[in-house]
This record gives sequence, C-alpha cells and structure tokens, in this order.
Amino acid sequence: MPTGDDDMQWLHKDLLDVSQLSTREVASLFETARYFREINSRSVKKVPTLRGKSVVLFFAEPSTRTKTSFDVAGKRLSADTFSLSATGSSLKKGETLKDTALTLQAMSPDAIVIRHSSSGAAQFLAERLDCCVINAGDGRHAHPTQALLDAFTLSEAWGGFKGRTLLILGDVAHSRVARSNVILLDRLGVKVRLCGPRTLMPSGVETWPVGVHRDLDQAVRGVDAVMCLRLQLERQQAGLLPDLREYARLFGLGRRHLDRAAKGAFVMHPGPINRGVEIDSDLADSPESLILEQVAGGLAVRMALLFLFLSRKTNE
Ligand code: CP
Repeated sequence: MPTGDDDMQWLHKDLLDVSQLSTREVASLFETARYFREINSRSVKKVPTLRGKSVVLFFAEPSTRTKTSFDVAGKRLSADTFSLSATGSSLKKGETLKDTALTLQAMSPDAIVIRHSSSGAAQFLAERLDCCVINAGDGRHAHPTQALLDAFTLSEAWGGFKGRTLLILGDVAHSRVARSNVILLDRLGVKVRLCGPRTLMPSGVETWPVGVHRDLDQAVRGVDAVMCLRLQLERQQAGLLPDLREYARLFGLGRRHLDRAAKGAFVMHPGPINRGVEIDSDLADSPESLILEQVAGGLAVRMALLFLFLSRKTNE
C-alpha cells in the first residue's frame, strides 16, 4: 500500500485548485505518486486498491491527456470508470450543469472528474454533491492536476526546488495551467518568470508572485526550465495576436533560446503542442524535453490523487 506521510490524514473532499493544498500534503502526494509510478513500470500494472469504487469522467471540453490518464489511473487501481462528454450527453439537449450533476450523483459515484469551459464549474458541483469532485480544468481559472504533475516532473528532474527558476512562456492570460502552476511553484519555493505578448498577459499580473518579461532573450537567461503554453485560440478574442508567424518569431522557443538558459535546463509543455509556433519541433523532441515525462508523471499523480481522495477516512 502507498505510504506517503503515515501521520497525515487526507481531509479534503474535493480538489478545486492547488491553493487548498499545504506543502506537506503536496509532498505526501508526490511520495504516493512515486509508489504508483513503480507499479506502472511492472509487467502487471493493476492493483486492487480501489476495487468497488466508481469514477465518472465528465469532460465537457476536449481532452486527450487528462481524460485518458484519469481513466487509466482509475482502471489500474481497479476502480470502475465511466465517461460522459458534452456532445454525447443531454447537455447537448439543453440540460443544465446542475441537473446533469444531480443525475450523475443519483448513480452514487465515488468521484466525478470534471472539465468544463466555465470557471467555477467544479466548485459549483462540489457545493452540491456528496461525492468527491476533482477539477480537470475549468475555463481559464484552474487546472490543479496539471500543476501537480508539472511540479512532480520538475521535482524529479531537478532533484528538488531550492534555488530553481522556471520561465512560463506564452498565452498566460487564457491559461488555467499557468495560474495553477504559479500558485503551486511559488509555494514550493521556485522563482517564476512569465514572458509573452502584452495582449496575452492577464490583467492584475503585477500582483502575482512572478517577474514579468516582454523579451524572450532576456527572460530565458539563467532559468532552469521553460514551460511553453498552448495558445488558447478557442478562448481568445479576435485581434489579440497579429499573426501566428509573428508570434512564433518573437515567442516561439528554439534552441538558441535554450542556449541562454542555465546548463542542463529543461523544456516542458502541457500539450497539445502547436509545433513550430510555441516551440520548435526539434526542441520538443530533444533530450532536454520533459514533455512525455509530464504525461507519465501525470498518470502516477492522478493515481495518487484518486487513491488519496477515495480512501480518505470520513466520519460516516
Ligand atoms: N494538458 C492537458 O490538459 O491536456 P489535454 O487537454 O489533452 O487533457
């Protein structure tokens, strides 16, 4: 059985954002994820830990990595997983989020993993449902499991966070990944820089615990990793970018940028990647790239999350 921190009880019913987690809880989660990562390297990858539990994957926005890894995570732990999408559900017929959620709850799942285009959708469900609600991305608000897997990947690659600097590059304004990562990595002691066009920086960024840069050559100097962000074209108003070629010229990460970073610096991307726009294709496939480690680490982190949330002790 995973141990994590034996003295620590997991008290949370839901995961809405990383701000609710203490550094001790994050450390315990990472310890548990390391245990499950070892299971994922075995020839038989299934354990009976969550037998009899059921997990609904309610994805009202597209996903490859998050949905599949929660599905695989649940199945590797012997939980039953069920999928619901926006197009294949009665949301398409106009059913409200509340009625959809209450309908799902009537089937007594142990957890609902939700992705939705509205910021606050996960909290809306969590306040109304008895089961665990895990936020798999809500609008531009938060993507806590992505931030946790990113921090886990960096922790393994760096061997810790002390004295490390990360550059987050690109469309910060529309990125729930950036918001959750800034909160979590700042809490873990990482210095965070942001770089991107002025039009793709969020209002109020000056209050964030980050350095803000406009020039990529300067921003990348001496950093220990660069996290490129996907251009969230589906969330952008028209006119925020002149054109993609110009964006790629000014803010696309290439080898020449990484050469200005610290020796041994890594590159990351939450995916899906726009190759040749956010990052040069060769760099995405290079030895410095952690992109597939993020995916593998994401599976272990999501197994750990399902384990911690679904085996927590309640007073019932
Ligand atoms: N990073 C991420 O959330 O990827 P998906 O949209 O494929 O789940």
